[in-house]
Amino acid sequence: MLNELLERCKGEWQLALSQRNHPYRFFVLGTTSDSRPELRTVVLRDYNPESMEFTIYTDARSSKVSSLNNNEAVEILFYNPEKLTQVRIQAQCVLKERDDTLFREQALASQKDYTTVLAPGSRIDSVSSTSFLQEEHHFMKLVFRATQLDYLELRRPVHIRALFKKVKESWIGEFRTP
Ligand SMILES: Cc1cc2nc3c(=O)[nH]c(=O)nc-3n(C[C@H](O)[C@H](O)[C@H](O)COP(=O)(O)O)c2cc1C
Repeated sequence: MLNELLERCKGEWQLALSQRNHPYRFFVLGTTSDSRPELRTVVLRDYNPESMEFTIYTDARSSKVSSLNNNEAVEILFYNPEKLTQVRIQAQCVLKERDDTLFREQALASQKDYTTVLAPGSRIDSVSSTSFLQEEHHFMKLVFRATQLDYLELRRPVHIRALFKKVKESWIGEFRTP
């Protein structure tokens, strides 16, 4: 059953790549800055079941990138409100890459997200004050490789909690008290 749980998670992440309303399409990414936790919602852009890597896109000037430059350890949180399932993942940022080809493959509206003149988080006078670069962009791909996965499913009569750790190249799981 442990292996089945892990395989089910992998299947959900695969589905989240193609189903726009899948709850795992969005996840919470936690980094640290000066020992303070920082959380934000991001979109799952790619998932590799073999290496257990999760990819997001971001603006290279955003705070999360400087936090990752100082500490590559992250926490990732997936939550499915219908199945009352939570997956907490410990991971390392293994790639921070500016990728012009991938940027050009994005829809024009999405490309715009990475072309603000001012860096994300800069103060502006009003919501209409954002202006955009014409040629340049700050698109960046970030890849996180999982090292530990804490699965919890709330269900009656017994909740299910299992911890999976990557040992060498294998995932070893054990049940835990929920
Ligand atoms: C639904 C939703 C999806 C988001 N997706 C992303 C994303 O894929 N990449 C990203 O960098 N920010 C995304 N954001 C914005 C982040 O939550 C965050 O506000 C922004 O990246 C700045 O974070 P930082 O200052 O900690 O770097 C999303 C926000 C929402 C509400």
